[in-house]
Amino acid sequence: MRHLRSIALFFCLFGATSCVSEGPAPAVEAVSAAVARTNIVSLDADDAAALRADLSPGALDLTPIARDGRVEIVRLSDLEVAQLSDLMHERINRCGGFLLHDSLADAVDAARVFNGEFERSAHLLAADYTIDRPDVVQAVLPELDEGNVVGTISVLEAYGNRYHNLKGPEAADWLLGEWQQLAADRDDVSARLVSNSRTPMPNVELTITGAVDPGTRVIIGGHLDTKNTVTTNEDSPGADDDASGIAVITEIARALLAKGYKPDYTVTFYGYAAEEVGLYGSGELASAAARRGEQILGVMQLDMVNFPESGSRGLDGSILSDFADPDLADFVRDIIATYTPYRFSTSSCGYGCSDHASWARNGFPAVMPFESDFRDFQRSRIHTANDTLELSNGRATHAMKFAEIGAAYVVELAKGSLATPPGDDPPDDDPPDDDPPDDDPPDDDPPDDDPPDDDPPGGECRTNDDCPPGNVCTRDGTCVDQTPDDDPPGDDNPPGDDNPGDDPADPTGGDSDDGPATPGGESGGCATAPGTSGSPIAWLIGALALLFARRRQR
Ligand code: BES
Ligand code: ZN
Repeated sequence: MRHLRSIALFFCLFGATSCVSEGPAPAVEAVSAAVARTNIVSLDADDAAALRADLSPGALDLTPIARDGRVEIVRLSDLEVAQLSDLMHERINRCGGFLLHDSLADAVDAARVFNGEFERSAHLLAADYTIDRPDVVQAVLPELDEGNVVGTISVLEAYGNRYHNLKGPEAADWLLGEWQQLAADRDDVSARLVSNSRTPMPNVELTITGAVDPGTRVIIGGHLDTKNTVTTNEDSPGADDDASGIAVITEIARALLAKGYKPDYTVTFYGYAAEEVGLYGSGELASAAARRGEQILGVMQLDMVNFPESGSRGLDGSILSDFADPDLADFVRDIIATYTPYRFSTSSCGYGCSDHASWARNGFPAVMPFESDFRDFQRSRIHTANDTLELSNGRATHAMKFAEIGAAYVVELAKGSLATPPGDDPPDDDPPDDDPPDDDPPDDDPPDDDPPDDDPPGGECRTNDDCPPGNVCTRDGTCVDQTPDDDPPGDDNPPGDDNPGDDPADPTGGDSDDGPATPGGESGGCATAPGTSGSPIAWLIGALALLFARRRQR
């Protein structure tokens, strides 16, 4: 379907890594300034070939000036970049799908990352990807609390629109306050804003300084800003994209600190600014870290973690293969296998679709676990007013899986120990009746309650490429059939159903369909039309959850 849009949005609609438009107003300036500039653009070679085959003579010239493996590099004016964005969406059915670069050298570097040829890191001497902190992880995981995650998502979505030059800066101030409270009781923990040159919105940073080697860092982050693709000042609650990631990261930090966790290496939590307009915040942080020659063991990105769209296929999510370090991704798979019953396929958004790409492009090992397999990704909500917590029935059940994975990742990569050894908790530190009855319902699977019990047919695999067509590679190295025909639309796992993703063996969990399925389709963060925001009931649930969350944090 062709989207209606104003010329002001022409540049920014589909998420190239660099956007001209900063809002609805400056369209004319953007257009006139645009004509003179040329851009170096890289895109998938297959996409480029498909577009060229379709283009009429004299239309957009996509003749490559360089080619590197799966990537082609072309030179385009700003107007041609806008045309390419349009074509990508209409012909390839993908949003973004290409990268803009400052120079050919930069494009070639990025192509190496995309082709998986980059060295692990120019900055990384050695990473210890062993799993040897079970006591710490097992003490921290039960501390993770869904009520807190719901509370944070509720507050963030209440901003209505966290666009980087609208309410994004306010949301950053609020998050800083939350993180400062977490830091209050310890000298080795601090929170601050890190300003950016290209956006008024700052990054928010929480640091637990490493007790043994503070110069080496472990990073976990998500983005705090939102956008509404149709009109930037329309409602843009971003409950899933990416309040869910910020809420999970905040809860991981709270749980670690509540347990007195002291890492060997420095752990940094980030709420990135202006991801939605071109990964600005993470881009500035990552290039500064590269300039300083920092040693970073891993960067985990949590962006969209609460819609369990692959539940009916027996998957809890996927790990992106693009802009991901293979060793770090394997490490995260090991963590999932060691500490959780969850099943993750490998999938790909096909371009630098989130902040992990900024770190990867600067030579740091990055990984992004995502809420579903990209083949199940439903595009009807992202970047619209429909991205609400109400669609998850006011729950964060799916997001909690990522809280477990993220917490275990931090502990196993940053090592360290608990101030109070596990088991020595005074009885009133974490009373068993602390959780309200509905906060941890019986249908929430505890980690060892629901092991993956069905060995799907198919051979061993490491990525989807090793599987027959229509199969995905799950975390236990087996191919799972997910041919669209096997999955009638009625079985699609709706985001409002927080249950089916919990039980990989139960293919019948979802029973309603909240939007058009995209079987076998490419991913894409494209907006349709703005819809309605949360209902008063969802608000009430959110407000109660928030009150409860605050009480727990005290
Ligand atoms: N959360 C999305 C990334 C994403 C998009 C995940 C589609 C799954 C499916 C992210 O916030 C985003 O919107 N990224 C932009 C690209 C960025 C470079 C501006 C996008 O995909 O359009
Ligand atoms: Zn987004």
